[in-house]
Amino acid sequence: MDIFDRVKALQEEIDQFTTQDAEALEAFRIRFLGSKNIIKPLFSEIRNVPNERKKEFGQLLNTLKQTAKEKYDSTRAGLAQTTQKGGDIPDLTLPGMPVAEGAFHPVSIIMDEVIDIFRRIGFSVAEDREVEEDWYNFTAMNTPEDHPARDMQDTFYVLNDPGRLLRTHTSSVQSRVMTTTQPPIRIIAPGRVYRNETVSARSHCQFHQVEGLYVAEGVSFADLKQTILYYAREMYGPDARIRLRPSYFPFTEPSAEVDVYWGLKDETDYRITKGTGWLEILGCGMVDPAVLENCGIDPDKYTGFAFGMGIERQAMLKYRIDDIRLFFENDRRFLSQFSAAK
Ligand code: PHE
Repeated sequence: MDIFDRVKALQEEIDQFTTQDAEALEAFRIRFLGSKNIIKPLFSEIRNVPNERKKEFGQLLNTLKQTAKEKYDSTRAGLAQTTQKGGDIPDLTLPGMPVAEGAFHPVSIIMDEVIDIFRRIGFSVAEDREVEEDWYNFTAMNTPEDHPARDMQDTFYVLNDPGRLLRTHTSSVQSRVMTTTQPPIRIIAPGRVYRNETVSARSHCQFHQVEGLYVAEGVSFADLKQTILYYAREMYGPDARIRLRPSYFPFTEPSAEVDVYWGLKDETDYRITKGTGWLEILGCGMVDPAVLENCGIDPDKYTGFAFGMGIERQAMLKYRIDDIRLFFENDRRFLSQFSAAK
């Protein structure tokens, strides 16, 4: 075959080339543009071409190279577009990539459960600030300055501002709500609280509480007791037993602390209940009339009950965690172990 005919044949092959297939395109690239491409050796044929046609031959070869390159680029651009449009079907039999699963913090799990239980009987959630004014945390709650009960809760004060502190209990939300809302009031207030205590396995300088407050006409201690019993059965099972022990809080009268019967079967039961089988979960009582009055609610017309429960405490019970510090260390080996216990 005449060398010019061979070039012409290759030029036609390039011009007519079309494909949707990546492999065919790669073969085209190797044939015309690869390091051992078919065009390269033709350049050394120039010396066999008669002088008057050498220039023409050279130009034909350059066109060949040029069009092969253009054809390759445009075909590849077309392929990339169809792939993006979803032209390529992924292999659905491939195993999935492992996805690291997150987990809820045990405090969040218990808190959500508590909120859920009270929502079902008509309590709504109220939240307020952690950096609180002394008045809402103590004074309004019938705990004026110099009242010995302030010693019960060692307080972090904001530097240079004796009127401002980190709230020591969620009871501060009681006064926040009662000063802005008239009864009927039926709220729970979940949140973080702070106390200036030495950190140990059993106590921490920060922890979580859920406060409850119900103020309306004719609210009685029987309502409080039934509400607590309902809570205990929802949280600890239908056979849950509770007992109320008389106690003291400046803002409730009468006051009580509530224990849930945990059992006394094995050694752990003995240890966590100190041999009694009972566990304390909350403090509660009838809202002291002085508190209602401080907050602008008529104590002759309305009565109410309130309670405050510790969340870490209950998480420790439910999950049998024996060191409160674990809740605040954010060790993933600890945190990944919990799922809603329902
Ligand atoms: N605020 C109390 C505490 O932190 C708990 C409590 C709340 C008691 C409401 C009675 C009524 O210990």
